[in-house]
Amino acid sequence: MDVDIGNALASVASPGVSRASLERLDEQVAAAHGRIERGMADGVHGYEALNLPGRTDPDEIRAAVAPVADCDALVTVGIGGSALGAATLVDALEGDGTETVFLDNVDPDWVTGHLEALPLESTAINVVSRSGTTAETLANFLVVREAFESAGVDWTERTIVTTGESGPLRDLADRHDLPSLRVPDGVPGRYSALSAVGLVAAAACNLDLEAILEGAAAERETLTGSLFECPAYAYGATSYALDQRGAGVNAMMPYAESLETYAEWFAQLWAESLGKDDLGQTPVRALGATDQHSQLQLYRAGPSDKLVTFVTPREREDRPIPSTEVEDLAYLGDATLGELLEAEFEATEASLAAAGQPNVRIELERVDAHELGGLLYGMEAACVLAGELYGVNTFEQPAVEWAKKATRGLLGGGDFEEADAVAEKTELR
Ligand code: PA5
Repeated sequence: MDVDIGNALASVASPGVSRASLERLDEQVAAAHGRIERGMADGVHGYEALNLPGRTDPDEIRAAVAPVADCDALVTVGIGGSALGAATLVDALEGDGTETVFLDNVDPDWVTGHLEALPLESTAINVVSRSGTTAETLANFLVVREAFESAGVDWTERTIVTTGESGPLRDLADRHDLPSLRVPDGVPGRYSALSAVGLVAAAACNLDLEAILEGAAAERETLTGSLFECPAYAYGATSYALDQRGAGVNAMMPYAESLETYAEWFAQLWAESLGKDDLGQTPVRALGATDQHSQLQLYRAGPSDKLVTFVTPREREDRPIPSTEVEDLAYLGDATLGELLEAEFEATEASLAAAGQPNVRIELERVDAHELGGLLYGMEAACVLAGELYGVNTFEQPAVEWAKKATRGLLGGGDFEEADAVAEKTELR
């Protein structure tokens, strides 16, 4: 990926960051890079995720998927970091036509609707939970299992489990002798897209796992101690510096429909990693050109408290716009849909710059397996760097864990003080 921070500089934008202050920040980037490299070398929790491109074994993942390789549909049961990486990959890349459904939420109507629409006799189940205890995932798995049983389909023949070394989901997998993969040690959920967590669904759709990992490995090679040399660090450091100057919102706006889910993945990564100790930038999901007709009004003319991040491919499959008999529309007939989208992007970027609103452009060659692997890795590295600059623990998520424990406690799944706090608050109403 290439990162252009020109429209975030103080000469163009407000709150922009000056070249001189980025040069000063670069000393902190060098120190942070040293900590990141040491963490990776020692396999320290979290930093270990940046080693995944060289550690993930695509053959092991394909072997686990082989028994269900002929399925017509795959239902992935997981939530947060156990779903969004896989969803990003299968939504962005062209697979073999396998239908993919992600059951993350536990809204009963929605779950039932999906299950009724799936061809269960030719559907495989991909259950993913690092902890193996997440209530939504375990509940949905039990519901899915029952739906298969009611339809007379042997779910044990069609289920792949990815989880940690121990826990209730591991127990279930062992009890039913299900094919299972391990979430690698030291890799937090939202950093696990490049492990079995993200790649089982990708393998079931016959995506090119090697190309995804090679793209990530190529991005890993760009990690050096200077933001002026490393695209991922340029992004992480610029976002941090802009936040320090008042850009507390980061709107991720890909100009490719296939990257819509990527924006959701990014939002989780940025929010859950950096939102600590009263710090962090609020991620917002947007999509070009659709949101030019809604959010752009705010981004250009609203408060100067935002960074808009564009992601755009240099090449895309294109389609000519047919010519028309109406003279006023003749300009469209000379163009393609791709050219129109590119013009929309250029116009939006220029209009924000003209209004002094900081924005950063991330360019991919195209949306393919190699480039997407690089993008996911690059944004993870950017986030780890930003976490170092903020001085937060990037790899923990105490607020998320609080809610998970409270939920389980409220349903009688354990004795958690978090649940007592909720019960107390409810009684006060
Ligand atoms: O990034 C994280 O740690 C979270 O978003 C988790 O991925 C999410 O809560 C699901 O957890 P688990 O994989 O343990 O079911």
